[in-house]
Amino acid sequence: MPRTGFIILAACVVLAAASPRGETQQAANPQKAQPTYVGSQACQSCHPQEYARFKKYSKMSRAYTHVLVMKKGLTENEYQGCLKCHTTGFGKPGGFVSQKKTPRLAQVGCEACHGPGSIHVASSDPKDIRKVVSVKNCQVCHTNGRAGAFRYSPMLYGGAH
Ligand code: HEC
Ligand code: HEC
Ligand code: HEC
Ligand code: HEC
Repeated sequence: MPRTGFIILAACVVLAAASPRGETQQAANPQKAQPTYVGSQACQSCHPQEYARFKKYSKMSRAYTHVLVMKKGLTENEYQGCLKCHTTGFGKPGGFVSQKKTPRLAQVGCEACHGPGSIHVASSDPKDIRKVVSVKNCQVCHTNGRAGAFRYSPMLYGGAH
């Protein structure tokens, strides 16, 4: 390994030892960094058409609002149970927590289908984001019980944008 490389690596090791877990791991090894959720608005500037269509036509972009309308009649437990399907990334690292803490991730957003987008937003590299969205990605929320008549093939291409 060239000498400068070694010095940088050594500096990273020192850093990693000195600071709290997580952050330095990313700094020392950017290739292995995991993307986190950033919210649909962060996609708007580069994908204005997908954004506009999704906002206008997809009820998914209002899914959390629909739960809020019903919240009064729900126990806290029942309400929490709605969130994994009616928000973005609930229960996953960096995903929706609450309206107060993570307002950008309320509603079902781009990243519910395309996966967390922080790395792609920074790089603009198509390799950093999931393009091929399969029926499996839908079934996380569109379970058979919820939507028996869900017709995947036409909707896979028609439902989002
Ligand atoms: C700074 C600009 C930028 C931002 C912000 C951005 N993208 Fe992209 N994205 C691109 C470019 C450039 C491409 C490649 C060309 C194209 O397909 O338009 C791309 C491609 C894609 C693709 C297709 C990938 C492929 O393999 O063809 C998807 C899906 C995507 N972006 C989703 C998103 C989502 C979701 C967000 C928000 C989390 C987002 N993008 C934010 C620039 C951006
Ligand atoms: C994170 C959970 C989640 C994922 C993933 C998801 N959906 Fe949805 N989808 C919902 C929810 C919740 C609704 C109901 C929105 C409402 O009316 O409140 C919905 C509604 C819909 C509707 C009907 C209403 C509309 O938006 O026009 C279609 C079509 C749809 N989804 C297609 C898809 C497809 C296709 C996929 C996969 C490519 C998918 N969804 C992935 C949660 C999800
Ligand atoms: C397993 C995922 C999942 C959970 C959990 C879930 N939903 Fe949904 N919800 C969906 C999907 C998928 C749809 C869209 C069904 C369709 O259009 O085929 C939907 C649709 C809706 C709609 C729109 C119904 C309509 O007729 O347009 C409302 C309102 C709603 N859900 C409220 C709730 C509430 C409140 C909770 C919690 C008590 C909840 N959901 C829990 C997945 C879920
Ligand atoms: C319900 C799931 C779903 C959501 C939500 C969703 N997409 Fe997509 N997206 C898809 C599917 C399916 C494709 C087609 C992928 C393929 O070609 O196989 C796609 C393709 C794309 C592409 C590639 C170019 C194209 O249009 O074919 C871009 C860019 C993109 N989406 C951006 C976005 C952005 C930005 C948002 C949020 C505003 C978003 N998507 C929300 C399912 C979704």
